[in-house]
Amino acid sequence: MKVTVIGAGNVGATTANVLATKDFLKEVVLVDIKKGVAEGKALDIWESGPILGFSTKVYGVTDDYEATAGSDVVVITSGVPRRPGMSRDDLIETNAKIVKEVAQKAIKYSPDAILVVVSNPLDVMTYVAWKATGLPTNRVMGMAGALDTARYRTFIADAAGVSPKDVQAMLMGGHGDSMVPLPRYTTINGIPVTEFIDNETLDKIVERTRFGGGEIVNLLGVSAWYAPGASAALMVETILKDEKRIIPTSAYLNGEYGFSGFFMGVPVLLGRNGVEKIIELDLTPEEMELVKKSAEHVKSLVDVVHKMGVV
Ligand code: NAI
Ligand code: 2OP
Repeated sequence: MKVTVIGAGNVGATTANVLATKDFLKEVVLVDIKKGVAEGKALDIWESGPILGFSTKVYGVTDDYEATAGSDVVVITSGVPRRPGMSRDDLIETNAKIVKEVAQKAIKYSPDAILVVVSNPLDVMTYVAWKATGLPTNRVMGMAGALDTARYRTFIADAAGVSPKDVQAMLMGGHGDSMVPLPRYTTINGIPVTEFIDNETLDKIVERTRFGGGEIVNLLGVSAWYAPGASAALMVETILKDEKRIIPTSAYLNGEYGFSGFFMGVPVLLGRNGVEKIIELDLTPEEMELVKKSAEHVKSLVDVVHKMGVV
């Protein structure tokens, strides 16, 4: 199996690195427009194979999509990341053009690929990739909930004094500060989280998760990559191994939860056909209200790309 990762920056290189260490792919191709960057990072990752114990071939190319031909999954991380004082939405103009261009080029050479978009603002960049390629909606998705729940689960585990491996959680909405972590669907090995953590602590964790991306931007001066790269690799693995795992994913909504015509984070069953099923939770009116607010925000960004005329 072959995976292409477009954008050999912080997130793209980390995605390629994590994918290689999972040792189930024949090839991982990194693509960037900056000459030598993808080639150099890919070679460095490939050379860790004998130490880390993987056989996957990792190589990089500069804007050469022929080398990506026949990919099973294409991960799009190209674009600019946010800096302090910027929101994910501030990236829309630059990234929409880049995502449109790279998605079209990649699909020309890998017409059967599944697209996993990572570039921000995530939900609307996923929409751009879908519009630009005309792929069926099950084959286009955005990575955000995997990361946001990873952050949430880390904070829950820490507060409860348990292993993060035992924390399961669901989250909905757009990948922005209006995202909606769902404590009612959060358990520690099946035990409701409220049996471990009081409501006040839980509220603080929900708030910290919503601003989890910004917390790292404020520390580093640029956005995160280790957990984002691992999250994108997790989605690729789930798809290509046809694992049928349920991962919060930005998926095209066609009536689910009463929404239509855009992408947003929902619980998704992921498998070899991509988005195989959107799971509709029985949300309380309060939860639904928060999800609606988040959806309004995502829709306003879709309007922006339409006004820009990108798609
Ligand atoms: P980065 O700046 O380290 O890497 C971006 C790379 O894209 C650069 O190497 C750049 O040369 C390349 N690039 C730009 N235009 C290109 C084109 N036309 N073709 C090929 N490559 C091109 O940025 P980083 O940190 O890797 O972030 C990438 C994107 O992912 C950003 O938009 C960021 O906001 C987003 N992100 C999304 C997350 C999510 O949860 N969905 C999490 C973290 C980052
Ligand atoms: C993050 O959540 C910036 O979307 C990026 O880290």
